[in-house]
Amino acid sequence: MSLMDVRGLYKGYDGRDVLKNINIKIEKGETLAVIGPTGSGKTTLLRLLNLLDNPDSGKVFFDGMDATKQPERIKLNIRRRMAMVFQKPVAFNASVYDNVAYGLKVRGRDEIEAKVISALKIVGLSGYEDRNAPTLSGGEMQRVALARAMIIEPEVLLLDEPTANLDPRSADIIEDLISRIRHERDTAIIMATHDMSQGQRLADRMGVLMEGELVQVGTPEEVFRKPESELVANFVGVENLFVGKAREKNGVTKVSTGNIELISSTKRTGEVFAIIRPEDIIVSKRKIMSSARNVLAGRIIDISNRGSIMRLVVNAGEQFVVFITRQSFLDMNLDIGSEVFLSFKAPSVHVFGRPR
Ligand SMILES: Nc1ncnc2c1ncn2[C@@H]1O[C@H](COP(=O)(O)OP(=O)(O)O)[C@@H](O)[C@H]1O
Ligand SMILES: [Mg+2]
Repeated sequence: MSLMDVRGLYKGYDGRDVLKNINIKIEKGETLAVIGPTGSGKTTLLRLLNLLDNPDSGKVFFDGMDATKQPERIKLNIRRRMAMVFQKPVAFNASVYDNVAYGLKVRGRDEIEAKVISALKIVGLSGYEDRNAPTLSGGEMQRVALARAMIIEPEVLLLDEPTANLDPRSADIIEDLISRIRHERDTAIIMATHDMSQGQRLADRMGVLMEGELVQVGTPEEVFRKPESELVANFVGVENLFVGKAREKNGVTKVSTGNIELISSTKRTGEVFAIIRPEDIIVSKRKIMSSARNVLAGRIIDISNRGSIMRLVVNAGEQFVVFITRQSFLDMNLDIGSEVFLSFKAPSVHVFGRPR
């Protein structure tokens, strides 16, 4: 049985569906990132999971119990097994100590002092006990909020954009803390973020929320390499997305863009998109002997320096973006106009359907 099981959730505001048919299971100890652009419904979803708001329809099961059906008193008990950190955490006008201790007090727990001191140490705020919480910086307040959430040892920790509006250093500290919670505790973490790369760094699974719909759920690897729609592909920042027609021949899929033909091991026919991740493409000056099914000749039309990596745009019938280390770039003596070969394997060509 999953720790949380969300079934057919709908929520609307002002006659508009903000969440549409959300279905997802959350397992004990896993970290799920809900990613999506601003306005896609992330906060609304977290609030429903935290039982702060009621869905218009659908159910949220917690530990096997249909939480949406329970009277307020039971809902409160369920909610107390979770902790939510809001995007802009609100500090009570009291000391940091009292802010962190609050959740333990309302739950009637013991050894409060030792726990508060330990929690503040973990978030790097030892010695802040007597500071007035509203005087803290954004980064410090976010850490207090995390300490306040973690101290109750929740089974589910809900984090809404935990690093939005923070300076990079504070964001790093928060990410490290989340990473520690993920690895050292069996708390399930559900975090909303609009930052793809953050989801990739921190999550076991990602759920991509677009206009209120969970359009894809999978490991970060799956979402990045095999986006299931153009919407997701664009959101995850895919390069080398081509439009074409796919047909099957001799057990492989051939995608014709009109200019080039790509060989893919994805089974699909008809109107499609094909994606090749830049890092899956090998660049060489001469045609290399390899098992790669796709070898295209082209010319470099753009070069940009990204530190130790160079980003090249190559016209090989279609425009491809490829990466190459600065060292190989120099060794190969490349320049604008240089002729190169691009090689990539059939499994690197990910193909998915196009709606008509
Ligand atoms: N309490 C509310 N009343 C009216 N509209 C709301 C309310 N909460 C959210 N919305 C609307 O729902 C949509 C999704 O909002 P939200 O869940 O905050 O998205 P996200 O967190 O992904 O940015 C937005 O269009 C927002 O304006
Ligand atoms: Mg939000």
